[in-house]
Amino acid sequence: MRWLAAAVYVTVCSVGLAQMPAANSKIAPTLAQTPPMGWNSWNHFAGKVTQQDVMDAADALVKTGMRDAGYVYVNIDDTWEGERDAQGVLHTNSKFPDMKALGDYIHSRGLKFGIYSSPGPTTCAKFAASYQHEQQDADLYASWGVDYLKYDLCSYRGLMNDAAKAHPEDAELSNRMMREAYVKMRDALDHTGRPIVYSLCQYGFDNVWEWGPSVGGNLWRTTGDINDTWDRMSLIGFSQAGLSKYAAPGHWNDPDMLEIGNGKMSTDEYRTHMSLWVLLAAPLIAGNDLSKMSDDAKSILMNKGAIAIDQDSLGKQGDRVYEEGPHDVWSKPLSGGALAVGLFNRGESVSPVTVTLKQLGVKKAHAIVNVWTGEAVDAKDGTLSAVVPRHGVVLLRITP
Ligand code: GLA
Repeated sequence: MRWLAAAVYVTVCSVGLAQMPAANSKIAPTLAQTPPMGWNSWNHFAGKVTQQDVMDAADALVKTGMRDAGYVYVNIDDTWEGERDAQGVLHTNSKFPDMKALGDYIHSRGLKFGIYSSPGPTTCAKFAASYQHEQQDADLYASWGVDYLKYDLCSYRGLMNDAAKAHPEDAELSNRMMREAYVKMRDALDHTGRPIVYSLCQYGFDNVWEWGPSVGGNLWRTTGDINDTWDRMSLIGFSQAGLSKYAAPGHWNDPDMLEIGNGKMSTDEYRTHMSLWVLLAAPLIAGNDLSKMSDDAKSILMNKGAIAIDQDSLGKQGDRVYEEGPHDVWSKPLSGGALAVGLFNRGESVSPVTVTLKQLGVKKAHAIVNVWTGEAVDAKDGTLSAVVPRHGVVLLRITP
């Protein structure tokens, strides 16, 4: 009898392991063929965001030229949610009087509409979320014209932890539940018939990059939250080494939204932020107040050469070439045999950063352009060397 019980347990466990929940989404792989670009309310407005702020952001995307540079998603983050009625239909709170009108407003400006929820009962800011209302919520989003959903684990973690405690024998239970929850919403989104980009936000747990595509994710956060400091931004950005093989057209690693223009980093630091994110083929989701943008912020967010590196049709993420002391060199393969290279100085004083064409795997002499200045660069004796400011970068494009 004891033998039988053990045999049954082994069978169940191995079946359980083999059958991690997966989505069978026909829509997901057709979306986000390049990393999504747009704006999100959280980094600047956080819990104070209103419908008017989002309309102002949409207007600013058009007026500043950001939309035409590629920033098309207008994404409301947490704190739009109100209460559910007796039928379970979720309503907005008073900060968002008319979501359908807001969606129409955004679309009328040639932009796309993004929204936010959680698979748990509540969001991270403790507002109502989608647990046990997945299809109802997906249908509601579709009726508002939503094109993008950020689905943030938040309180669902509590459910995962409780289940794991109740079943200590099932080591995979909480990870299986997490995937199940993400599959459930992907299915619900697909069921609406609207092509909705699916942004997984669970801070990188359980190496999400290994299974994000299988649950129908188009992008997945690889880390905890960014903030507007050099320490946090650079820690997140430079810790993305080794993840390049998991990104491809349709699904991207997401080291979190941009802080450029929020005011607490220097221009060099924001250039490093942008350069690193484009080398990472990261989603470029601006997080600043677009109605009050400095010329510096505009020139960084809208630099054509930098955006072209991010959006390159080859769809390959870059990775680290070498790191030595404060010097950190990254490269990203581009279409047509071109290569983007970032020479970063993470140190506290100005310093020359060097890399050889050999280290970059570049064989012949090429045209080399400094992306931020537009100047031509010479690789003397097969060596690229640049004097790089403190916390700064020289971003290059090498074209055959
Ligand atoms: C989490 C996410 C953030 C943001 C907040 C909102 O912290 O990681 O990006 O969405 O929740 O509450």
